[in-house]
Amino acid sequence: MSQSSIHIGLALVMGWLSANGWRRDNSQVEQLFNLQPYLDLAKQAEQAKLDFVFRPDTLFLKTAPLATEPGFSNLDPFVLLSAIASHTQKIGLVATASTTFLPPYVVARQLQSLHWLSQGRAGWNLVTAIEGQQNFGESPLSPSKQRYEKAQEHLEVVQKLWHSYPNSSLKMDKHSKQFADIEQVQPIQHTGEYFHVKGPLSTPATPFGDIPLFQAGASDQGRAFAAKVASAVFAATPDLEAGIELRQDLRKRAAQLGRDPNEIKVLPGLSLYLAETRKEAETCYRDTHAGFDLERRYAYVEEAIGLNLREYDDHHVLTETDLPELTRPVRSQTHSNLMRQYIIREHPSVNTFLQRPEVCGSSHWLVIGTAEDAVDSIIERISAGAADGFIAIPGGHIQSAQLFFEKVMPALAEQGWFRREYQGTTLVEHLNESF
Ligand SMILES: Cc1cc2nc3c(=O)[nH]c(=O)nc-3n(C[C@H](O)[C@H](O)[C@H](O)COP(=O)(O)O)c2cc1C
Repeated sequence: MSQSSIHIGLALVMGWLSANGWRRDNSQVEQLFNLQPYLDLAKQAEQAKLDFVFRPDTLFLKTAPLATEPGFSNLDPFVLLSAIASHTQKIGLVATASTTFLPPYVVARQLQSLHWLSQGRAGWNLVTAIEGQQNFGESPLSPSKQRYEKAQEHLEVVQKLWHSYPNSSLKMDKHSKQFADIEQVQPIQHTGEYFHVKGPLSTPATPFGDIPLFQAGASDQGRAFAAKVASAVFAATPDLEAGIELRQDLRKRAAQLGRDPNEIKVLPGLSLYLAETRKEAETCYRDTHAGFDLERRYAYVEEAIGLNLREYDDHHVLTETDLPELTRPVRSQTHSNLMRQYIIREHPSVNTFLQRPEVCGSSHWLVIGTAEDAVDSIIERISAGAADGFIAIPGGHIQSAQLFFEKVMPALAEQGWFRREYQGTTLVEHLNESF
């Protein structure tokens, strides 16, 4: 894999607040619902010439975790990114919007508006979502396969709406009095299984071209969908093997559909617990997760793969034969598959398994160590073909974000792994750029 084509995003979250992290003296938790910390992150990301900032989102709130941590408390991604747009010039702005819950007309308009206000920097992280049905009259949540069918149609409607009021129709000719060539502004008359939308969209298309799509689910349906439409995949790849498998599979699927496999970038989440020494980083990680007790881990494993580890001895070696047949739906097939694959491949002890990122994190690639450790891990994964870049999620304490910007990014740029200057001004240009 060429050194010249990696792509880097930053999760626009105060990731260092999760679990116990928010209680540290300098955590800035009081700013959680203010613009400033996100703006600081976005500006630093732009200074480091990152491709984009990425705002995940959920449309539900579990109240129990709030007793001790921020949980899923959040701000609306479009409102937040619009504010960021007005203080930045080059960095891409990727907003999460659910195809399961939000109407395509609203999503199409929000994204096109963000594309205008940022002058071509919007991206859409298209999620089928894992929860939130109770807030949208859809209880229970439909099965993953059906959510992807709906996502496919949702996207089709959004794309038709984007083209229903083309940029070329805008004339704004004061002499002839013609504002728009209305021949070009046409209803879409969409009638499908899930949506009935007449159109056209009330926001015209920008001159900056289509908005790139990001996708996250990695079940068979999720991969098929991503291979067809995504420019980038936000991947959960806890280890090198998972990254290689996903990237090879997505590239193969894209090629089978007639796409250039290089058009689809696999960008795993990279959780960074960084400090000046490994020991400090390990302490930070341990302290941050001290409240993540065994019962919570047992419950998570049981929901995901149906395995009740409460009954097992800590030293029992887990193999495929321990995995029960599961016929009920799971929250995320991606996360369940990752757990199963790890057990089948590695035969871990119960104790080892309970410490894994699949169990106590979001299944993301995890580096606990120094900035140099992070750089080595990044180079290892890129060189092995396990990623086309990554989306950084600094955690534990605010120093992780500081070290990421002060040491990790400069080292990647100095060693020729990453751009020193933007060549373009739009997100599409950043994603297509090789340097
Ligand atoms: C790495 C990753 C990140 C995700 N981020 C979000 C998110 O921000 N918001 C959301 O509603 N769903 C999110 N999802 C859920 C997916 O959109 C999808 O609904 C879920 O993974 C089920 O799809 P699957 O069967 O392909 O796994 C994420 C999934 C993965 C794997």
